[in-house]
Amino acid sequence: MQAESEHPPIRTFKPRRGRITARQSLALEVSSPFLLDANQPLDLPTLFGGKRVIVEIGFGTGITTAAMATAQPDIGFLAIDVHTPGVGDLVARIHEENIANLFVIEGDAITVLESCIAPNSLLGIRSFFPDPWPKARHHKRRLVQPARIQLMASRVVAGGTWDLATDWLPYAEHIAEIMAMQPEWVGGPVDRPDWRPITHYEAIGLSNDRVITDFRYVRTGIAPM
Ligand SMILES: C[S@@+](CC[C@H](N)C(=O)[O-])C[C@H]1O[C@@H](n2cnc3c(N)ncnc32)[C@H](O)[C@@H]1O
Repeated sequence: MQAESEHPPIRTFKPRRGRITARQSLALEVSSPFLLDANQPLDLPTLFGGKRVIVEIGFGTGITTAAMATAQPDIGFLAIDVHTPGVGDLVARIHEENIANLFVIEGDAITVLESCIAPNSLLGIRSFFPDPWPKARHHKRRLVQPARIQLMASRVVAGGTWDLATDWLPYAEHIAEIMAMQPEWVGGPVDRPDWRPITHYEAIGLSNDRVITDFRYVRTGIAPM
């Protein structure tokens, strides 16, 4: 998805160091069947036993990811984040709570979507409180930008969905504006879905009196460019 001439590639995240707890580190050291390789093509039907699959990009702590997977056992969830402590937490949680329909990848979701996930293979994508990149010179790093929107469209089946939320009003305006120009998706702001628990970053936004905007976009049958 990154233009070949771009070097280094534009990333939607800033690598963060974080202290790793003993629980997180154990979850990452012990080979877990729920922690997948970020560099291998994925056979989703085999992995999830034929369940339809939703990818979550940027799950953070993963507490709400685990809750959503538990609430929908008939759906397969693939959760992707670059932040190692969160990955360790979520893998540990999957084992502690015996969650069978949730797999985790530590890596850049953009690369994973490009390299590991087949076109037209996802029921949906979820990205809750993606980094807002408020400075104008960083807007190109936002998850919701045309090239990445096209990538998402190429992976989601017609009729599938992309659910988003943000607590940053300028980013909400950006999402509404830019998505309205994409014929591969139709939708816009929606009431907060009752299936979405309050996430860690959302709680921080709420404690700072920020307005939360949820979006739902449905994949049209129009092929991505
Ligand atoms: C602001 S946090 C939100 C976390 C969580 N969804 C929440 O609401 O608490 C954004 C998360 O997205 C992750 N992230 C950003 N770009 C990513 C990418 N390209 N691939 C995977 N994770 C990404 C970051 O590491 C971070 O954990």
